[in-house]
Amino acid sequence: MNVLGIDIGGSGVKAAPVNTKTGKILQPVLKISVQKSAEPQEMMKAVKKILLHFKWTGPIGCGFPGSLRNGKVLFLGNLNQNWVGKSITSMLKKHGKSAITVVNDADAAGLAEMNFGAGKDKKGVVFLITAGTGIGTAVFIDGKLLPNTEFGHIELRGKIAEKRASAAVRTEQNLTYKEWAFRLDEYFSKINKLLWPDLIIIGGGISENFKEYKKHFTVPCRIVPAKLKNNAGIIGAAMSVIASKQKK
Ligand code: BGC
Repeated sequence: MNVLGIDIGGSGVKAAPVNTKTGKILQPVLKISVQKSAEPQEMMKAVKKILLHFKWTGPIGCGFPGSLRNGKVLFLGNLNQNWVGKSITSMLKKHGKSAITVVNDADAAGLAEMNFGAGKDKKGVVFLITAGTGIGTAVFIDGKLLPNTEFGHIELRGKIAEKRASAAVRTEQNLTYKEWAFRLDEYFSKINKLLWPDLIIIGGGISENFKEYKKHFTVPCRIVPAKLKNNAGIIGAAMSVIASKQKK
């Protein structure tokens, strides 16, 4: 099936049609920059432009950086707080009548990785993080997603973990990979004691420099970088349509 994968994030919206059997992106990704403080209506204008660009009338999967129930935003860390209570499904339905699924962005990255990347065929508990502006987390048990986990918001040295160990914090505080890996390692040690994962997958932009910092990890759990890079959010958003069909 071909699904339009849309990834709403801190720097804007990106999207492309995806073949959900192969995980392949079928047309060049379109990215529209929108400030993270933008009102929901403004962000949705970018989504509308995307639908028009691809002349899309088929199924849509949309990733969003917050917790959701039935497509409605319950909680979010880093975008405009006016998103809370908004139904993204209803907003998207205004533009088409096809199947629409909305999923947490890290869950989307996880779905992509479990289907086509480092988590493929992995049993047991798999924990995936994306560490960009915030820390997003996805937990899988024998390949099945436990949706909406917000382990980026656990406490670490008196702070919300994502305010201490995200990639954005590394840049803001000019931390070396060693200094930052120490924080991430401490974070993983906490996660290890809470979830005892069989595998940790590091996704998002930081997976690309894995070789630079992996030697600093001490946590007794296998840690690997994600295989799908920047487009995991789009691919996984598209895959969420399949995952939600399987649930029904
Ligand atoms: C949000 C998560 C999201 C993560 C990455 C966090 O601040 O609470 O829902 O997955 O950022 O975007």
